[in-house]
Amino acid sequence: MQSQTPRKRWFGSLRELRFRGLELSPTKRRLRKGVSVSDLRAIAKRRLPRGVFDYIDGGAEDELALRSNSDAYRRMTFRPRVLKDVSEVDTSSSLLGKPIPYPLALAPTGFTRIADPAGELAVARAAQRCGLPYSLSTLGTRSIEEVAAVSTGRLWFQVYVWKDRGLVAEMVERAADSGYEALCLTVDTAVFGKRERDVRRGFTLPPKLGMSTILDGIIHPGWTWQFLTNDPIVFANVAGRSVGEGGETVALAEFVSNQFDPGLSWSDVEWLRARWNGPIVLKGIQTVDDARIAADEGLEAIALSNHGGRQLDSAPAPLDLLPEVVDAVGDRIEIICDGGVRRGSDIVKALALGATACMAGRAYLYGLGAAGEAGVDHVLDLLASDMRRTMALIGCRTVKELDRDYLDLGA
Ligand code: GLV
Repeated sequence: MQSQTPRKRWFGSLRELRFRGLELSPTKRRLRKGVSVSDLRAIAKRRLPRGVFDYIDGGAEDELALRSNSDAYRRMTFRPRVLKDVSEVDTSSSLLGKPIPYPLALAPTGFTRIADPAGELAVARAAQRCGLPYSLSTLGTRSIEEVAAVSTGRLWFQVYVWKDRGLVAEMVERAADSGYEALCLTVDTAVFGKRERDVRRGFTLPPKLGMSTILDGIIHPGWTWQFLTNDPIVFANVAGRSVGEGGETVALAEFVSNQFDPGLSWSDVEWLRARWNGPIVLKGIQTVDDARIAADEGLEAIALSNHGGRQLDSAPAPLDLLPEVVDAVGDRIEIICDGGVRRGSDIVKALALGATACMAGRAYLYGLGAAGEAGVDHVLDLLASDMRRTMALIGCRTVKELDRDYLDLGA
């Protein structure tokens, strides 16, 4: 073999080098780096003013529940089976009796437009593209009707019970008129959790322009420009009502304690039942006893949830609670596991324990904060492909086949 001079070898290998195409779109550049939800969280953290990021990212008090929600997933390991022919893996399933391409619902999140001006509209469109249900929050910054106008997909409306029941009845009627599929009644917010990151910053919604916000705004010019040049951020569902629509800066805790009813009880669930023809998802169940009452009440679904660790700290992690609840009521009611989902493998774990589906809020908000609507698409694609890959790697072809044998549950 003829030996080459070092110079020729150097040019030869240079020719072999394949340059990665230069990506001109900043959004696409960011998404290339967003290989996981945690990468997108890091990108969102860089892009968003600190107060905004902390409102999304933070939890109550010592953030024990916030951490344990995802730690519960991290701690759990699989018992993978091999040689099971996984050339075809099917992640599809059903939720509230309807088919779903993979079992995930997009959780309601308040004030979504602070992450990106397209806010709830972006999330609803992305959910529809994936065929997943999206729950608009009572504290949404786009209205019931605005969201319905951009999505023919599955929409749920999340209900907080206001002291003014007339207002709730009206919103429920508007959701029915706009074709929403289900109501999601949040029951873990009798009073507002103490989110200490927000308290320390004196964070208000919308963010108040003080010295520190102005400085933060200068460091994050992209966000600030969008904030200043788009529609004002308001509680769009109550725009024009005397309850305060968020146009005035207000600490959310103060708003909630003025407006929402801490006297909420099981009789209010019946009250809602009488006003709504479709399914109701009771979100915020944290014990087997309450799961039993929900099943006895004939509700269609519960979401085991501690509000993403934003309400009671030292609350049980939904994944830890799941097996007991499934054993008690799994044959009578659909069970959604909410909180801490960052990967498709987390969904697989919850399903193997008997959940009908998972629910995730922060995961898509990180995508929205990192790259707008394309960021939400990206997160939903990541979770779907993670889920498919995990099922293949544990030797399971269909959601129906997933059971506790695929998990190492200890002795
Ligand atoms: C609203 O629901 C929040 O958790 O901030």
